[in-house]
Parts: sequence; C-alpha cells; structure tokens
Amino acid sequence: MTYETLLVEIRDHVARVTINRPDKLNALNAKAKSEMKSLFEYLKANDEVFVVVLTGAGEKAFVAGTDIKELTELTTESGRAFSEGGQVIFNLIENLGKPVIAAINGYALGGGLELALACHLRIASENAKFGQPEVNLGIIPGYGGTQRLARLVGKGRAMEMILTGEPIDAQEALRIGLVNRVVPAGELHAVAKAMAQKIISKGQIAIRMALKAINMTHETNLTDGQALEASLFGVCCGTEDFKEGTKAFLEKRTPVFRKR
Ligand code: COA
Repeated sequence: MTYETLLVEIRDHVARVTINRPDKLNALNAKAKSEMKSLFEYLKANDEVFVVVLTGAGEKAFVAGTDIKELTELTTESGRAFSEGGQVIFNLIENLGKPVIAAINGYALGGGLELALACHLRIASENAKFGQPEVNLGIIPGYGGTQRLARLVGKGRAMEMILTGEPIDAQEALRIGLVNRVVPAGELHAVAKAMAQKIISKGQIAIRMALKAINMTHETNLTDGQALEASLFGVCCGTEDFKEGTKAFLEKRTPVFRKR
C-alpha cells in the first residue's frame, strides 16, 4: 500500500496512519481526502486491524485544515458537494467499527479539528492548538464540525470557537473535554500506542458493540438508545469471548480473547 499523501504501517493489530504533507502542515487536499477514503475502507474491512492511530507528519501540525487553495473557486453548488464529500470520509472514520485514536501533534485547525472530532479518542501533545477558523475565510466548518464540536464540548463552547475563530491550547482543550489526555510531545506516540494496546487486549466484539452503542448517543432518544444497548449487550453475551472473559475472571487469570 503506497500513497502520495499518507503513510501506513500495520503492526500487532494497530494501523498507524500519518497524513504526510508536512510542508503544507498536512492540509487536506483532494488527493489526501481520496486516499484517506480508500485507506479507511481498506482498514474497515481488514480483520487483522483492531485499532487505528491517526497522526500528522512533522512536529508542527496534526492537520492545519482543508487545503485553502482548493476552496477559492467553490460556488453554492460545488461548495455543498465539497462539504458532503468530506462528511462522507469523516463519517466512515466515525463508523469504522474499530477505535480510531487521534494523536494530535500540533495544529488541529478547521478540517483538522473536524477530523480529530470524527475519531473516537483524542490524545494531544502539549504544543497542540485547536480551532475552527473558517469564519476568517467567510465560511463555516463543513466536515461535520458544527455538529460534532457542539455535541462533544457543548453548544456554548462550540459557539465561541466557531464564531470567534480563535484557537485554544491543549490545556484548555483538556479542560473543556475536547481531548482525553495531554502529554509531552515526546511521549505522544508511546501513549497512543499504550492506549491502543490496552484496547486490543479486550474482547473485540465487545469493543465494536460499545462503539456502536455510544455512537448512537446523539442520534436517538434515551429509550431507543437503551433498547439498542440491550440488544448489543445480548450479542456480546452470545460470544465465546464473553464466556472466556467471565471464566478467566473467576479463575483469576488473564483472558485469552479470540474475537468470536
Ligand atoms: N491550506 C493550504 N495551505 C496551508 C494551510 C491550509 N489550510 N495551512 C498551512 N498551509 C501552508 C502555508 O500556505 C505554507 O505554505 P508555503 O510554505 O507554500 O507558503 C505552509 O503550509 C506553512 O504554513 P505557514 O502559514 O507558513 O506556517 P505558520 O507557522 O506561519 O502558521 C498556521 C501556521 C497554522 C497558523 C497557518 O498556516 C494557518 O493559519 N493556516 C490556515 C489554517 C486554517 O485557516 N485552516 C482552516 C481552513 S478551512
């Protein structure tokens, strides 16, 4: 698998994906987006991949946004299609069926923050900066950011970030719940890897069911959400992993999960 704008390494059930345009602060151009789409479709279908870690090349940026050069000619019609095209890719990530950890190593701006928001877990280095600066260009976030940011940090905070376009630093992102952890830059990849390994050690069917249930949080009411939870709980109870997990606990040993 070789890509022009992405680096991919699959090892020990972890796919590490690096957006690789460091000279443009990993801004997402059309090529990067189409390569991301085909790569994530591949990762979704690959049973050997349990967890994905997504990061940006270099020390300065995770992703500094969509490529502004490619925005200039958009019209009402093509702008809508442009937004929908990005949404499809980020929805694919959110619904991958396996956890995607964003290892945010610098600027996560515009489409870069929206990309991080589509991931399931976010670990930031101390130098990371987060913002939705689209209003500076006379547009709004178009890859799901108006929806996912408000759902994650609350409407008021999303309003402030999107209406002012002002970035926030990693500590503020941690305070408002935008990221799960902040770590020294030199430890970012080790922490992401350790989190991936922890998830990999669990029953993978349970992990998939948990993602599915939690992803529905904002799409359903409490009653329907709990009905889904109960049916996914039942699915887990029908697996060998469930038998093994409970048996291992009672026998005071580490479970050996087989993803079935
Ligand atoms: N689209 C296209 N190119 C981008 C980009 C983007 N979103 N973000 C950065 N780049 C390019 C710059 O044009 C520059 O290219 P050049 O060397 O060919 O001139 C290169 O990446 C380095 O960026 P530069 O601006 O020189 O770095 P900086 O450290 O001075 O500033 C930022 C960093 C992130 C503050 C600044 O690049 C920025 O504001 N980027 C745009 C962020 C944005 O608005 N994103 C939302 C888009 S919808």
